[in-house]
Amino acid sequence: MKNEANFSRGLEGVIAAETKIGGIRESEGIYHYRYYNAVELNKKRSFEDVWFLMFRGHLPSEAERAEFTEGIFDVTLPEEVREVLPILARSGDTSYLNWMRSAISVLGAAYGCRPVTDASPEDMMRDAMRMVIAFPMILSSLYRLSQGKEPIPPRPDFSYAQNYLYMISGEPAEEKQNHAIERYLISTIDHGFNASTFTARVIASTGADIGAAVVGAIGALSGPLHGGAPSRALAMLDAIQTPDRAEAWITDAVEKGERIMGFGHRVYKVEDPRSKLLKEVAKGMEEPIVDLAIEVEEIATATLARLKPGRKLFTNVEYFGGVVMEGCGIPRDMFTPTFACSRTVGWLSHILEQAGDNRLFRPRSLYKGKELQPIPD
Ligand code: ACO
Repeated sequence: MKNEANFSRGLEGVIAAETKIGGIRESEGIYHYRYYNAVELNKKRSFEDVWFLMFRGHLPSEAERAEFTEGIFDVTLPEEVREVLPILARSGDTSYLNWMRSAISVLGAAYGCRPVTDASPEDMMRDAMRMVIAFPMILSSLYRLSQGKEPIPPRPDFSYAQNYLYMISGEPAEEKQNHAIERYLISTIDHGFNASTFTARVIASTGADIGAAVVGAIGALSGPLHGGAPSRALAMLDAIQTPDRAEAWITDAVEKGERIMGFGHRVYKVEDPRSKLLKEVAKGMEEPIVDLAIEVEEIATATLARLKPGRKLFTNVEYFGGVVMEGCGIPRDMFTPTFACSRTVGWLSHILEQAGDNRLFRPRSLYKGKELQPIPD
């Protein structure tokens, strides 16, 4: 990769590593976790089963499932983390992902996470498991503290998805909401070499500890071009109000040079399979916003095809992801943090893989400044 011919802006199309965690077949509109179609898995398996698959490389037997889930939510957060959460929840504007970055730093230190170059595979797996479990506990605590409420510990008899909604609202959610959020969480576990996953792997490749890699990944996910779009997509639906206003609204925004949030994807130029899946999940929720979202999707797709011919702009995961989360009663400023929760499983799977067969990421850049100049006296 030494000459200009190999330069690709934004690393578009560049293969940066080999992986067995999963992949995307962009022209077919398929993505997979390990060696299973992720949409099929989503319809048949629990979040915990898919988490097991991602960490261990195969689906669990009944005995393995029992061992994996035994007492996972019978835990408390380390004291240092519990102490820091109220301070974070009072700091600056409400920004859960910014607070999560700090909290995960403290968590990594409290767990004594060691550089991946020094930690054994068993230590790393233990720390990765603990981090997946702690993530929703910390996030829901920050949410409740920011609302002036006390954090709620998870219920050991609840699944990951049930606990997620329970720890935010303080009440067990309805069955249809638990079902919908589980589908959303599974759908967003992993997705190729996206920006946050790549960030996590770059940090792990330096030998840093897994806490550092997750903190970096959270930062990358927080940007609107990556994970920050679902609440913006819903804000657009609020602004559009009724389907008859959609075409004019979208045309005006695109003519002003704005991006339509929840549309477009760097890799897919066909419909995003996650969007299709979550649209079906949204339909099953029978919430008023679903009909508006479906009608606006149709109009926006046609309008974008007219205004941006040949760009193949369809809804991405964030559009119906936002609709599903809204139907589950998740506050909008918790949408991207919810995405971060499930993506933690993907990030950590990649971090473990990178650590297991490491080669430091060290690409080159193409200098485009002035010719070298003599230093003025
Ligand atoms: N609305 C309007 N136009 C768009 C959109 C959009 N959402 N997305 C791309 N385009 C247009 C661009 O303006 C550009 O047009 P031009 O050729 O006339 O200049 C053309 O399509 C190609 O755009 P690129 O920027 O090259 O596409 P890229 O691959 O970088 O974009 C991205 C991918 C960043 C996701 C983009 O589609 C976007 O900004 N979408 C809105 C934000 C969003 O939904 N983000 C969530 C992504 S999913 C995820 O990360 C989990």
